[in-house]
Amino acid sequence: MSDATTGSRAPRPAETAQDAGSRAPRPAESAVEVRGVDKVFETRTGQVQALDGIDLTVAAGEFVSLIGPSGCGKSTLMRLIADLDDPTAGTLTVFGKSSRQARLDQEYGIAFQQAGLLPWRTVAANVALPLELHGVASADRRSRVAQLLEMVGLGDFADRYPDQLSGGMQQRVAIARALAEQPRLLLMDEPFGALDEMTREKMQTELVRISAETGAAVVFVTHSIPEAVFLSDRVVVMSPRPGRIQQIVPMRLGADAARAARTEELREERTFFDMVTAVREALHGGSPVASGARGVETR
Ligand SMILES: Nc1ncnc2c1ncn2[C@@H]1O[C@H](COP(=O)(O)OP(=O)(O)OP(=O)(O)O)[C@@H](O)[C@H]1O
Ligand SMILES: [Mg+2]
Repeated sequence: MSDATTGSRAPRPAETAQDAGSRAPRPAESAVEVRGVDKVFETRTGQVQALDGIDLTVAAGEFVSLIGPSGCGKSTLMRLIADLDDPTAGTLTVFGKSSRQARLDQEYGIAFQQAGLLPWRTVAANVALPLELHGVASADRRSRVAQLLEMVGLGDFADRYPDQLSGGMQQRVAIARALAEQPRLLLMDEPFGALDEMTREKMQTELVRISAETGAAVVFVTHSIPEAVFLSDRVVVMSPRPGRIQQIVPMRLGADAARAARTEELREERTFFDMVTAVREALHGGSPVASGARGVETR
């Protein structure tokens, strides 16, 4: 298995050394394999090439973030992995299965830009949906839903309906739903975009804990460099349209940077700022970025 593959133009960072470092040993099976994927949209005004020659392997249990300018194809790539659309060329597999089979087998949980809740179901019933579909007994369902809602800070809102919640609260319901079944893979497209900064950092910490505890692989789209650095084992930097992988930056966050050990203190450490700078430079095409406060990036 090729461990990480960059786009054709990209320099290859020294990922092998990093992967042999502090991370937990990787199981042989990969969570996601993307090989030579192109996506061209036919529109009334002509063709739009959204993705060009994407090669990416996400190992089981690995946390990979996608970052890049608006319109570079991040959501398109996520939709292809989730079998919500078909590639124009290339192949995608999820745990060795076709993306279609993986969808049918409910191999992953999804939390996308839009919360996508069912308006006629209460908050609790939305979170319970995947459990219902998998035939989990109702008593177990209730306790699991209560636990999940507590985790996302919505314990008091179980009986509300989605339109009675703020956008950020709806997003948290969608995250709880994605986690309900403890899937081996989470596909998350800007799931924290609608959250205030405090809640966002809390959810990041929770996600780190959950993914470490459950060993779930995560593919995570974000526009926030610090968010990507805090969460990820590797950050995939994409170029403007047509979306290509420009560089894959392994997160070197020090000896105790196993995901389970990522705590609030990490956000203030030197290695954290160094990684923020590395991702910023990759986004800017690999050259040092002149700016005032080194390593400081808002969202
Ligand atoms: N269904 C579609 N039909 C035509 N063009 C599309 C379609 N979906 C996406 N595109 C185009 O493909 C490109 C990539 O879109 P995509 O939504 O994947 O970008 P993105 O990286 O997720 O952007 P953002 O950061 O703004 O969410 C854009 O140019 C977009 O206009
Ligand atoms: Mg998008």
